[in-house]
Amino acid sequence: MPTAGSDSTSETEIGVYWKEEELIHPPTRFIAQANMADPNIFERFKEENFPECFKEYADLLSWDRYWSTTLDTSNPPFWKWFVGGKLNASYNCVDRHLRKYKNKAAIIWIPEQEDEPDQVLTYQELHNRVNEFALVLRDFAGLKKGDRVTFHLPMIPALPISMLAAARLGIIHNQVFGGFSAKACAERIQDSESHVLVTCDGYCRNGQLLDKKMDADLTVEEAKKLGSDVKKVLVWRRYPDKYLSKSPMVAGRDYFIDDLLKEFRGKRAEPVSMDAEDPLFLMYSSGSTGRPKGCQHRTGGYLAYVAGTSKYVQDIHPEDVYWCFADIGWITGHSYIVYGPLSLAATTVMYEGVPLFPDAGRPWRIAERLGVDIFHTAPTTIRMMRKAGSNEPKKYNYHFKCMTTVGEPIEPEVWRWYYYVVGKGEAIITDTWWLTESGGFLCSTLPALQPMKPGSAGTGMPGIYPVIYDDGGKEIRRGQGRAGNICIRNPWPGIMQTIWGDPERFVRQYYSKYCMNPNSTNWKDWPWMAGDGAVQAEDGYYRILGRIDDVIKVAGHRLGTKELENASLTTPEISEAAAIALTDELRGHVPVIYASLKPGIIPSKEIAEKVVANIAKELGPIAKPRAVYLVPDLPKTRSGKIMRRVLASISNSKDYGDITTLANPDIVETIRKMVQGDKAVNK
Ligand code: PRX
Repeated sequence: MPTAGSDSTSETEIGVYWKEEELIHPPTRFIAQANMADPNIFERFKEENFPECFKEYADLLSWDRYWSTTLDTSNPPFWKWFVGGKLNASYNCVDRHLRKYKNKAAIIWIPEQEDEPDQVLTYQELHNRVNEFALVLRDFAGLKKGDRVTFHLPMIPALPISMLAAARLGIIHNQVFGGFSAKACAERIQDSESHVLVTCDGYCRNGQLLDKKMDADLTVEEAKKLGSDVKKVLVWRRYPDKYLSKSPMVAGRDYFIDDLLKEFRGKRAEPVSMDAEDPLFLMYSSGSTGRPKGCQHRTGGYLAYVAGTSKYVQDIHPEDVYWCFADIGWITGHSYIVYGPLSLAATTVMYEGVPLFPDAGRPWRIAERLGVDIFHTAPTTIRMMRKAGSNEPKKYNYHFKCMTTVGEPIEPEVWRWYYYVVGKGEAIITDTWWLTESGGFLCSTLPALQPMKPGSAGTGMPGIYPVIYDDGGKEIRRGQGRAGNICIRNPWPGIMQTIWGDPERFVRQYYSKYCMNPNSTNWKDWPWMAGDGAVQAEDGYYRILGRIDDVIKVAGHRLGTKELENASLTTPEISEAAAIALTDELRGHVPVIYASLKPGIIPSKEIAEKVVANIAKELGPIAKPRAVYLVPDLPKTRSGKIMRRVLASISNSKDYGDITTLANPDIVETIRKMVQGDKAVNK
């Protein structure tokens, strides 16, 4: 077990003390209607049937041409799935449902303002809008297969329409989370080499109308500084003909999409038949270095994987009303608001705003009014809803059959509230562990076949073979109460293809630590390292303990400590900075910054405030630190490495362990006093 003084593993030790929770079995009523109640599935997806087992997922899709090779491992770890197959993601999510479901709601959009009417897009209407916007992208913006387009859109219907329009033509979409700053968006534009930005005029958040077009102006400016030229800015207006932003439209650069659409009304854009391996989208994600990486996802394997997991884990049937309360700007929204549910002809609900607006009853009013029966959200939202209105769900007459939790470890206590109060004891819960990189779920229970265990993500999904290694590469077997690095031993169809523009980093980051033989083309030599600590119980269930690298999950958002530190260093007075994660009752973790100042600079409140402002500017308001400590020096190893772990222990009032080997051990006590006063937590 790593000690607090080492800078290797982090929270893994909590696994040892965590008690085993009870098993809860799914209700018979759920099992009777479940998409997957055949225990044979585990047999079918066993290692000896790999990779052909994944044909079962791919067969959920409509292919223009069937594939010839299920998995090509000739150039590891750049796996190729369903090679030779051709299909179009937009066709699979829209066109193919028209015959049976054209008048069924595909997307129900709930604006944050409760008196504003919902927007219901039937599959027919979605088809019309996707085609028309695809023509704008193709014939007005001049985009074609393989080009990239960046979206900086909030939770409005224009977002899935834009994604499906791009996918229709093989244009690789790059949606940047709406809450990210202009600067963060500009970096992603530059890295993805896109020249068209799609945005909107404004949106509602927490009762306020936010100006989004203003961000776009800044984004273009910032992108220019990075050497990137945004040629066109396409602006969706919330209310056609009414412009909500104060920012002037720049002639020859900015265009209202509702104006452009007039020319294409009722026209069709033929879906382009894509190779299964053609990229579908990029999703930038924080890792252990400063620069976010563009996770590149393929068309065929990704779509097959999200369709299969939506069907078997989320238990989506076409007659369900499914609400994933997440943001499409993140992978959860891409996979489980848009591509998964729509590929299965579900009705997917999108909500514009924050969970508690205008009060704690809002989510349950939405569920009741729309007859939502599948609900999917993150622990941070669950904790917020529980704190603000633990009895609210009882007041509303909705009934869920299944619920999901995703994105962070969930405390068993919070899980039980979710189960007994939100789910009224009637709904199963799947705790799905996965990542931006994985495209879809990696660990979860199959809800009709395996019991739930509060706080545990269940076993590997069918066809996913996890393993836990210690730092030396030795397997930690189940039931030992010891945690280690969770890896997936095999490729799967949803795994990202590569890091956009940086294949070496892809190999380095995920494979270099545990690759058994870099010359081997046998997938068994290439375990994929997820970056999480985990422990496997005797019964085979995994409990995920959190990131072991320099990633902080803040209210479910993934932020890199390096990104936070770089943003802190844009404050001229700062010499060095370290970002750490402080445990927070609601948000899971929040960042805290420790910074030392340049020689001769006196610490002041103003400097600390500047650091906070710079972080918000560089990354976005979600990244704002809870505290900034201006300290005389940062604790370092003799080789000069900053000991974030020690700082994290101080902030979290934990024992920081043995520090005698540090280059400057005395600084630790000085910092501890600054942060904790004279409380002797470490004595
Ligand atoms: O630490 C794990 C945590 O979220 C990380 C991935 O974050 P991101 O790429 O933003 O994707 C989030 C949505 C899939 C993981 O490395 N995580 C995700 N799901 C769980 C989880 N931690 C515990 N339990 C989960 N169910």
